[in-house]
Amino acid sequence: MTQTHTQKQPQKVLVTGATGTVGRQVVAELLARGHAVRALTREPSRASLPADVEVVRGDLTEPDGMAQALEGVTGLHLITFGDAFFTPLETGPRILELARAAGVRRVTVLHGGGETPLEDAVRADGGVDWTVLMPVEFMANALEWADGIAAADEVREPFVSRLSAMVHEGDIGAVAAVALTEEGHGGREYVITGPEVLTVGDKVAAIAAARGRDIALVELSEEEAVARWRAAGRSEEVIGFLLHVYGNTPEAGRTVTGTVEEVTGRPARSFARWAAEHADAFKA
Ligand SMILES: NC(=O)c1ccc[n+]([C@@H]2O[C@H](COP(=O)([O-])OP(=O)(O)OC[C@H]3O[C@@H](n4cnc5c(N)ncnc54)[C@H](OP(=O)(O)O)[C@@H]3O)[C@@H](O)[C@H]2O)c1
Repeated sequence: MTQTHTQKQPQKVLVTGATGTVGRQVVAELLARGHAVRALTREPSRASLPADVEVVRGDLTEPDGMAQALEGVTGLHLITFGDAFFTPLETGPRILELARAAGVRRVTVLHGGGETPLEDAVRADGGVDWTVLMPVEFMANALEWADGIAAADEVREPFVSRLSAMVHEGDIGAVAAVALTEEGHGGREYVITGPEVLTVGDKVAAIAAARGRDIALVELSEEEAVARWRAAGRSEEVIGFLLHVYGNTPEAGRTVTGTVEEVTGRPARSFARWAAEHADAFKA
């Protein structure tokens, strides 16, 4: 008797940026779907990834050293930058050459805002099924408020009425995990958002509800915000970028898409859920 196998075959995926905010979620979502994960990091001793992940040393700025890490994987998740200052990687063509030689069939790339050489190289590659992941603001950015909330029950922010369709990092990971292991996502760019559009006040209220204590929202002027960012060591470039996106959030950043549900079959996770998961980070 012939049996029909509907279960998906486990695959092996190399995740770069695996120790980052998004990368950890890509790893978790691949494991949850029964796939094997190899994680690339510059410092394995600090990686702190789940025990069933194969952690390998590697550096995206030195692609020839990645050949071994690419052996035996069918999927590759890439980031576009090569250091803590988000310097764009120029090594995309060589990484893709090695990936094709190793038999990689699917590549996802986490969009870095604007055009980057690595993303350009991925989009130009005819030898793999590539998917560009374009998340809007991460919910995890709210962790920047943790110290102020824990210490003084307050959030000090400029542009408090700005709107954001912010996305749960787990949902970015889930979309990546599907695109890396299933057919039908090649040549696509996915704008990934949460299920609702929120103001800063909405987010603060959700965190207050999750931790069971009120939080004051203090609106800063532009000048006060710039002084604060400078004192925190942010570069003038980053400050200019923040002023621009906070003051003129692009329509895509404040418009809900159906990507998470369409790709994963599950609705996008809410900020209230994210706040409940992270409530302890906001407690003194
Ligand atoms: N925050 C937001 O709201 C937002 C929204 C949309 C898009 N984005 C984009 O998301 C990206 C940031 O992602 P993230 O927050 O997940 O990053 P992250 O938490 O800052 O993590 C950085 C990761 O990059 C890895 N890395 C850096 N340089 C490397 C190199 N030379 N070789 C190998 N690995 C290297 C690090 O690995 P090791 O240190 O372990 O080697 C680490 O895993 C940016 O492109 C940003 O533009 C952010």
